[in-house]
Amino acid sequence: MERPHLLMSTAGLAYKILTWGCQMNEDDSIQMANLLEQMGCVEAAEECDADIILLNTCSVREKPEQKVRSKIGEFRALKEAKPGLIVGVCGCMAQREGKALLKHGAPVDLVIGTACIHELPKLIEGALKSKRRVVADRMPEAWENNGGAESARVVCKTGKVGIKAFVPVMYGCNNHCTYCVVPSARGPERSRPVSDVMAEIKQLVAAGCRQVTLVGQNVNSYAGSCGKAADDTATFAELLTMVNDVKSLLRIRFTTSHPKDMSENLIRALEELPKVCEHLHLPIQSGDDEILDRMGRGYTAAHYLDLLERLRTRMPEVAVTTDIMVGFPGETHEQFLNTLELMNEVKYDAAFMFAFNPRPGTPAAKMDCQVEQKVKTLRLIELIAVQNEITLQKNKEELGTVFEVLVEGPSEKDPDMLTGYTRTNKTVNFPGKRSMIGKLAQVTAVKAHPWGFTGELAEGMSD
Ligand code: SAM
Ligand code: SF4
Ligand code: F3S
Repeated sequence: MERPHLLMSTAGLAYKILTWGCQMNEDDSIQMANLLEQMGCVEAAEECDADIILLNTCSVREKPEQKVRSKIGEFRALKEAKPGLIVGVCGCMAQREGKALLKHGAPVDLVIGTACIHELPKLIEGALKSKRRVVADRMPEAWENNGGAESARVVCKTGKVGIKAFVPVMYGCNNHCTYCVVPSARGPERSRPVSDVMAEIKQLVAAGCRQVTLVGQNVNSYAGSCGKAADDTATFAELLTMVNDVKSLLRIRFTTSHPKDMSENLIRALEELPKVCEHLHLPIQSGDDEILDRMGRGYTAAHYLDLLERLRTRMPEVAVTTDIMVGFPGETHEQFLNTLELMNEVKYDAAFMFAFNPRPGTPAAKMDCQVEQKVKTLRLIELIAVQNEITLQKNKEELGTVFEVLVEGPSEKDPDMLTGYTRTNKTVNFPGKRSMIGKLAQVTAVKAHPWGFTGELAEGMSD
């Protein structure tokens, strides 16, 4: 890839990136850091030391948006003290709100939507030169398979490659779940070509990465080009098979799967490919068919349960996690109980749980019978309590198991302990030497927690 030309005016400037939202945003922030470092910028230790501050934002619920707005407010004083400071709002809020983010004299110089992140050097140069506020919020196009963000991706340039990395395999979403802003923030679904994905993974592995998580809003519908003909595309199961062959890569994860597109081939890939970890994140959203229908999810609870039964019959050890929402418009108490019942039947290893939050511009925000906030909160509290009990119980049932753990580093809770993840994506903290970081260890689970396990190196494993 062509390097953005070095700008005298940006060399040596300090930058800080603040990130909200999902793995797509986390990955975009890495790409933005790479681009800034190519321009000669260096990461600032604190926001107050920075010359360029970028807020990579999320619109999925109101809370992350509020956090960004209050953060922007904090920069007013900083900008007065440091007039050259550039503040940029990037990502999903930038895409959805565009120049509205500049209203009322907001201390914002740059607005960069999700399709324009790779134009960061040019946009910063423009803001510096013109001393005017710049907005780049065009919507990503369905044809941007090669010409969009992916062709601008820079891998490993900053040398900051850890033992695990997110690798986007697709951008955007073609589904229209009636509650969700993602299609309006990320545009239509675009699968990255197989050659781009494979080249990036090989570069990451050469730089020391040992686990990749393939990410996209609906990876099950991946159709990346793999030949010259337009219809020559690979399925997600085929992509997994190719990634499984990358030498020195130890583990492959993927997220998010959509129950309506989960194919037999993908179940087989999970079962048969040795590097693909035994964990499936399969959002159910609701256990009630009428709610699922009005959410526009395209499956029933019975279809979902059938999928899981097929999977668990062939892979009893597989861990299953989910996303669930309560208080969708019109959700009755009985319909909420259907969700609780499904949860008790499936016994998820873990779940991300949310109260429905009406988002401007989505059909669900305009539906009649919005559920009272108090009711949504009580349902969420009940759901979380039930799931926490299930998670702890499932972890207790696994006490004494020897897990293969990919050691990531010292534990945040206790720096004298190491931390890592099982193949089923459960956290294990255990005593061990730092020389084990980046390697696989066999660890026995000796204490169960809601967040995972405390462990001990298994017999025969020396640290
Ligand atoms: N593409 C994924 C899927 O289809 O499951 C998830 C995308 S979304 C970024 C992550 C989760 O946020 C969703 O699964 C849903 O549970 C939750 N979510 C999305 N919109 C929401 C809303 N308006 N209110 C509350 N939760 C929401
Ligand atoms: Fe949103 Fe639905 Fe797309 Fe997931 S599949 S990103 S919930 S529209
Ligand atoms: Fe949020 Fe955008 Fe991801 S809305 S969840 S950062 S795709």
